[in-house]
Amino acid sequence: MEEKDRILELRQLLHKYNELYYVKNAPVVSDREFDSLMHELQDLEALHPEMFDPNSPTQRVGSDISSDFIQVEHRYPMLSLANTYNRGEVSDFWHRVSEGLSGAPFEICCELKFDGLSISLLYENGRLVRAVTRGDGSKGDDVTANVRTIRSVPLTIDPSLGCPDSFEVRGEVLMPWSSFERLNAERELREEALFANPRNAASGTLKSKSSKVVATRGLDAYFYYMLGDQLPSSCHSDNLLALANWGFKTSSATKVARSLEEVYAFIDYWDTQRSSLPVATDGIVLKVNDLRQQQQLGMTSKNPRWAIAYKFQAEKVKTRLLDVIFQVGRTGAVTPVAEMEPVLLAGTIVKRASLHNADIMEGLHLHRGDWVYVEKAGEIIPQIVGVVPGEHGTSQSGSLSFISVCPECGTPLVRYEGEAASYCPNDTACPPQIKGRIIHFISKDAMNIANIGPETIEEYYSRHLIADAADLYQLQVGQLCGADGSKLKSARKTIEGIRKSLEVPFTRSLYALGIRFVGKVVASQLARHFKSLDALQSASMDELLAVEGVGKVIAESIRSFFQEERNLLLIGRLQMAGVKFELEESAVVSPVGNVLQGKTIVISGVFVHHSREEYKAFIESQGGKNGSSISSKTSFVLAGDNMGPSKKDKALQLGVALMSEEEFLKMTGWE
Ligand code: IVH
Repeated sequence: MEEKDRILELRQLLHKYNELYYVKNAPVVSDREFDSLMHELQDLEALHPEMFDPNSPTQRVGSDISSDFIQVEHRYPMLSLANTYNRGEVSDFWHRVSEGLSGAPFEICCELKFDGLSISLLYENGRLVRAVTRGDGSKGDDVTANVRTIRSVPLTIDPSLGCPDSFEVRGEVLMPWSSFERLNAERELREEALFANPRNAASGTLKSKSSKVVATRGLDAYFYYMLGDQLPSSCHSDNLLALANWGFKTSSATKVARSLEEVYAFIDYWDTQRSSLPVATDGIVLKVNDLRQQQQLGMTSKNPRWAIAYKFQAEKVKTRLLDVIFQVGRTGAVTPVAEMEPVLLAGTIVKRASLHNADIMEGLHLHRGDWVYVEKAGEIIPQIVGVVPGEHGTSQSGSLSFISVCPECGTPLVRYEGEAASYCPNDTACPPQIKGRIIHFISKDAMNIANIGPETIEEYYSRHLIADAADLYQLQVGQLCGADGSKLKSARKTIEGIRKSLEVPFTRSLYALGIRFVGKVVASQLARHFKSLDALQSASMDELLAVEGVGKVIAESIRSFFQEERNLLLIGRLQMAGVKFELEESAVVSPVGNVLQGKTIVISGVFVHHSREEYKAFIESQGGKNGSSISSKTSFVLAGDNMGPSKKDKALQLGVALMSEEEFLKMTGWE
């Protein structure tokens, strides 16, 4: 076959496999096979630049080229819906529709209201040509390059399926809970501001200037509306089925109701069941199903008369604010934390809420004793959303304000330009920063020193036994037990634990150093790339930027870490103590065997010892299968950190066991 024909064939094949995996959740080939076809296509495309196609499956990885968004006029305005909050308002809508249609029978299509950001895609001759955000409803930003990286968005449509020559499809770009949790976990490790909910994360991501970043963020998209001159049907729900047939992700929760009772039943069902969905929803959308009836009903000045949104209640509770305390982290960042009277909120007792930074705290004008509203942002992180009106506690004494000096060492705080956080700059002598660095060093994902935790570090530090991480390796049993020899057993165990930590691989000893913005995932990536601390230390800016997941901020942070004398001295002493700063060969290659013969394993979460791809390859090399979603056929879930709650629930429901990374390595003998 001619190379050019092979390119076309591969593109078609990969689009199909992609749809089966990301839209239909029913993969037919292994990841390895998929990757090898993708590589073949990449190689052939490199040989034939004249065949470049922005809709090729190879373009899903995005590019580094920064793009400023161009504003584009919508062919059909992007409307918003009127909101309702109770059954009475839903019933009013039903009766208004009935009246508007002069009593003629009608159907209501009930759908989930996805909580992301709306997007309009234009397809011409079966090819995605443009993706535009809602903007102000009449014009939005052209985000085509970013949307192309969303795996579940079809870039081309099989011509044999008979889609119109030109049509628009509207939907919602979302960040699934699992991607959101992974992203926030990574940001937390890098001490970056967390996204409050998946919608903000999706929106921040879609507006990113680098499509390469977008490609890594795990966005998804659901579609719920089609526009054009030659639609397949005059019935909305049939058009949704056509969209699904052409490869778009549509919601399987959609239901056509013929009575108000059926509408209420749909609302009641999803009000509770939505917690098990992989993406955030904030309500229900009700649409008149017949497009001719939609036309007949028309619009008000702002919204269509043929549709409304019903919004779920976000759980919000009142409690009393006791105080605001200020915590200093290992990087010196100072975080205001509200302490409140304990209160039950969405299943957990909440008594603290981060106020994030000076601006957010002061914007709330808090006083001790205020009654405040607490909500779970994105249903996870408790957040004070405001003071109960008229319920300011001791308003005369003035509102609580942010501090200007470090609460721990008295050094005046600094705020860097463009950053929301305030820092204590005294990194050499501010106790929580010193202790924080040691606590990070011993933590589970770093050196994993068993038997000692933050309290022990506090104790050793206050007894002047340690002043940095390297001092741990100088500790003697005699120093840790009482003068009378009491606690001898535990002292021996501690020393043994410290000694054992020397076996920790470079992927983790690098993370343990606590370089700013180098979380465990990035550390693992860097360790694998450079293979030794020496190589990392001498890497140029460009060499650092070549590593996946490393951008300018991380690269600069690494460079400045190695420019500090204090860090070099610490590394030298750790090296002398025997900490491994080189990657061992066994960590790079995995053997072939059959320990996982007949097992179907689903991988979920973030991993420390090996990358997700390495685990997948390993499972296959051992005769196992990689499952894409948890089902009764799943043998077990290899669960990393921050596995999504819905996946956990599903596993629990089906009685599928969760296995930690450590357990998995032990079981398979792959260390
Ligand atoms: S239909 C004219 N269906 O909610 C009808 N919208 O204010 C246009 N949304 O901007 C929207 N899920 O971003 C529709 N199943 C759904 C939806 C949905 C979420 C969003 C959309 C829209 C907003 C309504």
